[in-house]
Amino acid sequence: MKIIKVKDYNEVSKKASEFVINQIMNKPNSILGLATGSTPIGLYNYLIKAYQDKTISFNKVITYNLDEYIGIDRNHPQCYYQYMQDHLFSKVDMKQENIHIPNNDPNKLNENANIYNDALKKVSIDLQILGIGSNGHIGFNEPGTPLGNETFIVELDEQTRKDNMRFFSSLDEVPKHAITMGIKNIMKSKFIILMASGKEKAEAIYKMIHGDVTEDLPASVLQLHPNVVVIVDELAGSKL
Ligand code: PGA
Repeated sequence: MKIIKVKDYNEVSKKASEFVINQIMNKPNSILGLATGSTPIGLYNYLIKAYQDKTISFNKVITYNLDEYIGIDRNHPQCYYQYMQDHLFSKVDMKQENIHIPNNDPNKLNENANIYNDALKKVSIDLQILGIGSNGHIGFNEPGTPLGNETFIVELDEQTRKDNMRFFSSLDEVPKHAITMGIKNIMKSKFIILMASGKEKAEAIYKMIHGDVTEDLPASVLQLHPNVVVIVDELAGSKL
């Protein structure tokens, strides 16, 4: 793991964007694995700027998102399908047919998880963006998730629901389940960038890098991947 420590959230976003911009410049038809939550918003803003400057085009880029909530529909502002449209896709020249986000249709959950997993098996993600939960989750692989899991339906950890309550009006409104890529899918990516900002992430970042590889802290599995860059700000890296 290569650790890059920068000053603040803006620098985390900028540094991550440099990797993604280089990736797209070197391979315009790159397959990107994308994340949601607060952390990648600054990165997406830098990518939109690079598109507007004509440094990069998303015309040939293919994307696969890590996860999607279950129990809210696709036009709910917190649905990750909507999030991606709002924060990136509607602002660049992404082709809708190149966008892949797990389908959360409540009537076909297992079928949709299998369809998403089959699609992931056929491709090789060039660059995967990850955030990290304060409990050490990546995607929605919560503590205790078997490290060999592929795309599955997960019951969200209480800590994750509390952490994400800020996006909803009450804890009751935060979905209890999600579809997520499994650790095995994530580990297949050729290159992984994990971004973290803020003191709430400091403990998880410390354990991910210096702790044992364990299901109790799913991000620790990244110690076993040959090509990972971790970009942290001063607060998230304060225990390192
Ligand atoms: P956040 O979430 O970016 O909203 O802090 C990160 C994650 O849960 O992976």
